[in-house]
Amino acid sequence: MLNIRSYKQMKQNHDKIVMITAYDYPSGKYVQEAGVDLILVGDSLGMVVLGYENTLKVTLDDILHHTQATRRGADQTFIVADMPYMSYHINNEKTKENAFRLIIEGEANAVKLEGGSSSRLEAIRAILDCEIPVCAHLGLTPQSIQTFGGYVVQGKNEKNHDYIFQQALDIEKAGAFMLVLEGIPEQLGKEITEALTIPTIGIGAGRFCDGQVLVYHDILGMADFKPKFVKQFADLSEEIPGYIKNYCDEVKIRIFPKEENIYSPIKL
Ligand code: KIV
Repeated sequence: MLNIRSYKQMKQNHDKIVMITAYDYPSGKYVQEAGVDLILVGDSLGMVVLGYENTLKVTLDDILHHTQATRRGADQTFIVADMPYMSYHINNEKTKENAFRLIIEGEANAVKLEGGSSSRLEAIRAILDCEIPVCAHLGLTPQSIQTFGGYVVQGKNEKNHDYIFQQALDIEKAGAFMLVLEGIPEQLGKEITEALTIPTIGIGAGRFCDGQVLVYHDILGMADFKPKFVKQFADLSEEIPGYIKNYCDEVKIRIFPKEENIYSPIKL
């Protein structure tokens, strides 16, 4: 299994790092089979798996449940488990306890949290104090949509650009092993990537990040909404209902089950 040193080495070698989300046994199995470098059990599961409007209602138990299932499917792949909203905001004890559960009960290898303010840096240091690797996340961080006023690209004006750039430097200094950059201009993604020694993983952050991450359901065309940064490699939401309709039709017109699907079939 790759580990946090592998990803740093990949950055040094200019090898692109591929991260993808997974949420359960089959998606874990498929993405491992495809050879991804690491898996994120993201709180995006709130939208693509649980049908919520955003990520804010996702709980630690939700992430735990889905990390455990993903691990059963992907036993040889490094897994980052997302820390959901309010699981690292209250105090260091709660933060540590929650991160610890994702590692021990969820069998994740690392955790991810959003933001780069001084309290987030403190949370990163508290988790690292428990010997748990931390992946940080800056830019259009979905847990902040209320304060951003929606899904708004970040870092577009000079002040916000400089603010995010400084947070990236602080995050590396605090000890994070990786930084996800979401929804920012390509130029800012490039500048951060060049300034840091830890790898950056982009999602809507342009071509110059050390790696890319996309949501499993977006790649396969199974999500309700397609942001600009997504490339859809299949259109399963078009195909799946057709396959299920075939099954419905075959039952109705008595094509299924056939003899080969029956235990001791009666000879007709
Ligand atoms: O929750 C998630 O899937 C994420 C990625 C989009 C980076 O945070």
